[in-house]
Amino acid sequence: MDAADVSDDLVNVLFTEAQIQERIKGMAAEIERDYEGKELLIVGILRGAVMVMADMARSFHRHVEMDWMAVSSYGSGTKSSGVVRILKDLDTDISGRHVVIVDEIIDTGLTLSWLTSNLSSRNPASVEIATLLRKPEALQMPVDVKYVGWDIPNEFVVGYGLDYRERYRNLRDIGTLAPHVYS
Ligand code: IMP
Ligand code: MG
Repeated sequence: MDAADVSDDLVNVLFTEAQIQERIKGMAAEIERDYEGKELLIVGILRGAVMVMADMARSFHRHVEMDWMAVSSYGSGTKSSGVVRILKDLDTDISGRHVVIVDEIIDTGLTLSWLTSNLSSRNPASVEIATLLRKPEALQMPVDVKYVGWDIPNEFVVGYGLDYRERYRNLRDIGTLAPHVYS
């Protein structure tokens, strides 16, 4: 669906489908340059990163392996619970591998800070983070992010994999959720 289908639920559209595609192509090109001559494993964080992973992987003009992890750090609302738990681990042994964690958003940074140290303890050749969105004002944990699509204000956004109570993930655009939806 697109923003027009849920226009009553959105305060504004932050990024259109076309802008998102363009930015992801740029990020993929950057990663491609940095990992030239190296094998690369991209790890998507379920479920939010599904769209970013699908589009980023197809933007590469090279081979790339894909794996997935699922962690829980959020309840069903709009606030971080502060607890990270692995719901689904990697199928890949990452020792000696170059890994890029792909996520759709960094909010408090809790999830990715925890994940980075978890994956780093498995002796990979390298671990970096690529995220489409980041909320600098919400950061509570220092996270070293190599690839960022856009920095955004500290507001709750939905679409392109980002959900509110499992809805809006299939929205093509990214928009700010109207407070009346969650209050
Ligand atoms: P963090 O651990 O607070 O950095 O955020 C972890 C996860 O919370 C993200 O990967 C998202 O799944 C979710 N999240 C954070 N901010 C938003 C938002 O604005 N909309 C939807 N999901 C969000
Ligand atoms: Mg996520």
